Amino acid sequence: MEFNTEKLNLSSEHDLAQQVGWKCPSNIAIVKYWGKYGMQLPKNPSISFTLNNAHTTTQVKTTPKSSTANFSFEFSYNNEPKPEFHPKIESFFERILPFCPYVSQVHFIINSLNSFPHSTGIASSASAMSALAICMVDLEDKWFQPFSNETQKLRKASFLARLGSGSACRSLYPHAALWGQTAEIESSSNEFAIPITVHENFKNYCDHILIVSSEEKEVSSTAGHSLMNNHPEADNRYKTANENIKSLLDILKGGDFESFCQLSEAEADQLHLLMRTSNPPYNLLHENTLIILEKIKQYRKESDVPICYTLDAGPNVHVMFPNKFKSECERFINNELKSLCENGRIIEDYMGLGPKNMFT
Ligand code: DP6
Repeated sequence: MEFNTEKLNLSSEHDLAQQVGWKCPSNIAIVKYWGKYGMQLPKNPSISFTLNNAHTTTQVKTTPKSSTANFSFEFSYNNEPKPEFHPKIESFFERILPFCPYVSQVHFIINSLNSFPHSTGIASSASAMSALAICMVDLEDKWFQPFSNETQKLRKASFLARLGSGSACRSLYPHAALWGQTAEIESSSNEFAIPITVHENFKNYCDHILIVSSEEKEVSSTAGHSLMNNHPEADNRYKTANENIKSLLDILKGGDFESFCQLSEAEADQLHLLMRTSNPPYNLLHENTLIILEKIKQYRKESDVPICYTLDAGPNVHVMFPNKFKSECERFINNELKSLCENGRIIEDYMGLGPKNMFT
């Protein structure tokens, strides 16, 4: 990927003062990214669905910078200063600096807000980092107009988001995204995600997130990725993931629900099996998670409704089903699964259309 290395004209205070704002969704991986190398590069390609309701809204204002530090920013969450978020943002700025030299020339005033409460155990890094990344790219666009088209702009946003958190690079596109090089798609890359088109059957696909536990995870995703480095099953995992990418691309093109359910659950199960067999081993699933997974499989078998689950690196369950089966699935979730969630908590979401500019 090529980068604009232009710097800002610091004599123009007016140009330095800008304001941008973006709402960016979270995403849920169907084929999982688990294992990385170098600077946030994935060991295997992954495919995710873009969500809609779980999102972060971020506004960034720039003002002239007075400090001599490499970069300078202030961060608030819902207009309240939040120093505990500083290390993640610092490391984001540190990493993007070589690709965005203007970052060292202005002071950033950042304010963010998530649509979902902090205490749900839902990782906000995908939506938060993608929102911040697209704000940076929007500023770059205002200052230098370096992008020949929208694709270039989103690719750079995805590239920068990846440096903040790997899964964040997949949050920039409508419906679904592919991150990581695969022989199946020529323009695929380990450095940024690209959009993929899905069959009508998958548009508006529902994802109800069952909050089984909101406690902080014992092992972070970043620590989990590094345990893949010496994992005895690592090579098998990367081989399976590549095969699953090929199958999922076919499924998303053809619209086959049954194959989708099989693949989605196999990926989630394998992710958690890898955790249980790593050195040291660990388990992030709760007793209620296991009961919920069994109930979903049972209901699918009995009803023929293509409902299935996936999991991210935690105990909460993403229950997925086509929009046309919404009423029976919601009835099943309310009658059978809700009581197994912490305080009956469920976040209802569905496949969304990607980032939204707050100023247009
Ligand atoms: C299990 O993107 O959170 O959700 O790159 O270290 O920030 P970092 O990791 P992160 O890992 C996500 C892991 C996953 C699978 C996925 O989203 O593909």
